[in-house]
Amino acid sequence: MKFTAISHPNIALIKYWGKADEKLNIPLNNNISITLDKLTTTTTVEFSEKYPKDSLILNKKETANLERVERVLNEIRKMAGIKDKAKIVSENNFPTGAGLASSSSGFSALALAASKAAGLNLDKKELSILARLGSGSACRSIYGGFVEWLAGKKSEDSYAIQIAKPDYWDLKILVTIIKEDEKEVGSTKGHSLAKENPFLETRLKILDKYLKDVRNGIKEKDFTKVGKAAEFDCISMHATMMTSIPMLLYWTTGTIRVINAVKKMREEGLECYFTIDAGPNVKVLCLPENAKKIESKLREVKGVKNVIENRPGEDARISEDHLF
Ligand code: DP6
Repeated sequence: MKFTAISHPNIALIKYWGKADEKLNIPLNNNISITLDKLTTTTTVEFSEKYPKDSLILNKKETANLERVERVLNEIRKMAGIKDKAKIVSENNFPTGAGLASSSSGFSALALAASKAAGLNLDKKELSILARLGSGSACRSIYGGFVEWLAGKKSEDSYAIQIAKPDYWDLKILVTIIKEDEKEVGSTKGHSLAKENPFLETRLKILDKYLKDVRNGIKEKDFTKVGKAAEFDCISMHATMMTSIPMLLYWTTGTIRVINAVKKMREEGLECYFTIDAGPNVKVLCLPENAKKIESKLREVKGVKNVIENRPGEDARISEDHLF
């Protein structure tokens, strides 16, 4: 049987950076994200004895390195008691590997489509754990809206939960596209560098306060509280990246220009905050009444190629539109 799933990437307000367990993708800290409605991954999976090996065609190109994909597939095969290989075809409607969290929607869609294709009917907690084995942040994309990943200590207790549904709060997340190229250092390598970095300890020490601010800020719909804490946590993560050996610098001139534009808009009374993952592209958080104005100002910033307006998106879900 063939199954297709749709999932959205998520943007972390409190970041996952550094792993307690590198094989199982168990994070050092709880973290919180928003699922983005406009960016989408669609993945079709079929298990069959006619396939001699597992294969993945991502954005129309055959992918050679299937290590992380096979971690998820092997777990599914174990759970379902099957041996068949899988054919996977996956497509993103946004740049892949450019710090737009394509692995989060990618592995979330894979966990859902592949588990269904293997005849399993997993609940969301089980899907979240499965997606996490492929890429940590993917465990959050199983859910839409506002999501917290409970770090846990072992595989069974490291999974995401939903804090609030997508329509709970109409926040806007303006994704500014500065560079669409694949990044040179992927986040998996970055996580391992973080562990040896003495600044990580300080980041983790102060993180709890910001985690609470974001969690409570979402519950209270206090935009200032959420925005300030998220922006601070982003800077704290990038400071940790920059002080790794070798240095990890994901920002480009365009990134800094957008950061400055956000600061300037705020000084002028237009409230917005930035956050950035492992890439140069900046996500700007704002309230709906200011979104159009902020978007047009962002479009004027040199180096900004496009701005995609998002709001909190839906859970990962099954679709009837197969890719093969
Ligand atoms: C900076 O989930 O991509 O986006 O578990 O090794 O696949 P792996 O890492 P990944 O790391 C995401 C890092 C981040 C912050 C975040 O999304 O929380």
